[in-house]
Amino acid sequence: MKTIIEPFRIKSVEPIRLTTRAEREEKLAAAHYNLFALKSDDVLIDLLTDSGTGAMSAKQWAAVMQGDESYAGSPSFERFKTAVQNLMPFKHIIPTHQGRAAEAILMALIGGPGRTIPSNTHFDTTRGNIEASGAEAVDLNIAEGRDSQSLHPFKGNMDLEALDAFLADKGDAVPAVMITITNNAGGGQPVSLENIRATADLARKHGKPFIIDGCRFAENAWFIKQRESGQADRSIPDIVRDCFACADGMTMSAKKDAFGNIGGWLALNDDDWADEARVKLIQTEGFPTYGGLAGRDLDALAVGLTEIVDEHYLQYRIRTNEYIVERLDAMGVPVVKPAGGHAVFIDAKTWLPDMDPLDYPAHAIACKLYEIAGIRSCEIGSVMFGRQTDGSEKPAAMELVRLAFPRRTYTQSHADYIVEAFELLKEDVHRLRGFAISWEPKQMRHFTCRFTPK
Ligand code: F0G
Repeated sequence: MKTIIEPFRIKSVEPIRLTTRAEREEKLAAAHYNLFALKSDDVLIDLLTDSGTGAMSAKQWAAVMQGDESYAGSPSFERFKTAVQNLMPFKHIIPTHQGRAAEAILMALIGGPGRTIPSNTHFDTTRGNIEASGAEAVDLNIAEGRDSQSLHPFKGNMDLEALDAFLADKGDAVPAVMITITNNAGGGQPVSLENIRATADLARKHGKPFIIDGCRFAENAWFIKQRESGQADRSIPDIVRDCFACADGMTMSAKKDAFGNIGGWLALNDDDWADEARVKLIQTEGFPTYGGLAGRDLDALAVGLTEIVDEHYLQYRIRTNEYIVERLDAMGVPVVKPAGGHAVFIDAKTWLPDMDPLDYPAHAIACKLYEIAGIRSCEIGSVMFGRQTDGSEKPAAMELVRLAFPRRTYTQSHADYIVEAFELLKEDVHRLRGFAISWEPKQMRHFTCRFTPK
């Protein structure tokens, strides 16, 4: 059979409230044109994020009832730890309430003024935690990763030459090397096993610990299996183990590739670092056998980790994005190619070449998509990255609209609806006007700033 079906059937449904275009125009204006300020009841298809928004399975909900809420020594923690270590063979597993809490603890250990931490591309919370500690976050993604039309199979790869030179130049200022799989901010693009290993070797050569931000490790492993020579016949869990075996630690948002609605962890091999991290954990999150989570969350994640590596799930997951990318590409909408793991990215700079980047073209497209079809997406461009630490504003490297897909949540007809929305949007797009920001907070402005249409 050539049709790839959703490899699940639906036992429990959430209704979607249908709205009219006029109603949506009114809601968006009332939200000061910030899509984060909309009520989710006013959204038809919510592609704001794939984080914590997925559907748990019947087995995960059953596991919720097994959760043991003991403050210390809960068997839920043991089940969670075993499930993590089955895929990621680290010595110490430290649960946190989400990924950014793991990052904050890690940065309390290794960050600080005068330090600099390279990665292929730091996600915005990682960058935020590094900068909050006083350190500098540096992105060393290969050049193809910034070219939306390059068909390189592993556009998330680290630029190894640049990393080698960086480590030689910065010396003791570098406390660790990081890599993000898949590269979310760079279009959900994967990193090859070869590149992960080569990055680990370079870190070792320069005497630096190597830490993986593993949020979408299963999607990354699926791409490795499909695209990397010698990997096609290997199981996803084996590929995952190889990715993490060469690292000294990892940060994780279990809201992505662990099928959690909440959760995360920090994993480390070094005993001294782990001791220090647990002290910080107790101060900020909770006791080491629950971190920032309830026992029931830990049990749901333990089951989720066994489901996320299922090949039929991963095939359906990635194919949905490929299908939308193929359809949009055929109709002339500029999309980041190849399709990413968790999201479809629209290249707004190419679609609206005449709009000033500081009129926020990707945001203008995201707003119109909501008005036309009730689809909520997210700008990843100059609204998100434009404000510099010195207070100045400069355009981001790319102006992207991200359509991120919650896991096991939407179906093929939702995908077709999204494609149809772009058919309508295409007719209007060249009449789009940009936005000005009328109010913004001091940091991470995209979540709460207000816009006025130009
Ligand atoms: N690292 C990456 C690569 C991420 O994509 C995220 C979250 C985090 C770390 C932080 O994890 O949310 O659990 O604290 N990304 C979400 C997104 C929010 O929409 O891409 P968290």
